[in-house]
Amino acid sequence: MTFLRRLEPEWLDELPADDPRAMRSRRDLKRINGWMLQTAIMSRLLLSHSTQAPKQIVELGAGDGTFMLAVARRLAKHWPDVTLTFVDRQNIVSPNTHDGFRKLGWQTESVTADIFAYLAKERDNAGIVTANLFLHHFEDEPLRELLTGLAKRTSLFVACEPLRAARALWGSRMLFVIGCNDVSRHDAVVSVRAGFRGHELSALWPKEPGWSLQERATLPFTHCFVARRDV
Ligand SMILES: C[S@@+](CC[C@H](N)C(=O)[O-])C[C@H]1O[C@@H](n2cnc3c(N)ncnc32)[C@H](O)[C@@H]1O
Repeated sequence: MTFLRRLEPEWLDELPADDPRAMRSRRDLKRINGWMLQTAIMSRLLLSHSTQAPKQIVELGAGDGTFMLAVARRLAKHWPDVTLTFVDRQNIVSPNTHDGFRKLGWQTESVTADIFAYLAKERDNAGIVTANLFLHHFEDEPLRELLTGLAKRTSLFVACEPLRAARALWGSRMLFVIGCNDVSRHDAVVSVRAGFRGHELSALWPKEPGWSLQERATLPFTHCFVARRDV
């Protein structure tokens, strides 16, 4: 079954950060990431595609930072000294979460900004850039602009997104079974419809020599994209 990419607003993006339904939905998101095995997928991709332990990672659309904390717990023994920058238009990384990174020996900073404003301003090399359940928020043309901006600032970009497939749509409709709230149930279906398949992200990456791209469905619900600058 194939269906075209379709974007609709996600409720979590429109609710104030301190709205109880939004707060509950962010907790649901942790469980959804768990069910999708996003932490394991992201950690494995980062370890297998990075040629050396990085000093710097930037996470786009980092949310409350707990996804990356779970990833950092898997990586810290290999990558002991990392400065991690969260970029999100909501400032919702708690002191507890920052503290969790500190205990692993990682430094953190939060940048509260729209991603396009951030990229327009930030000219430095970002180290590794990651995104989890983030790219699907954008239509193809803004996404092309975003990926073009990233290609100028990183040598490794790893994204784990919703797979746009019938089985993922079915999974998103079953979230009531694990007690997810109305916001999470709505946004999950919308996210799958806005997700990716095939080589859709590779087609939006700038056509420049010197990059190796890998893009594929992983496990039942995830679509992964890796862009690595050839050394
Ligand atoms: C589905 S959540 C994923 C959060 C986190 N990556 C995770 O897996 O838990 C998407 C995040 O992207 C952020 N976001 C959406 N559009 C954005 C934009 N244009 N600029 C910056 N952040 C944005 C939202 O605020 C939200 O925190």
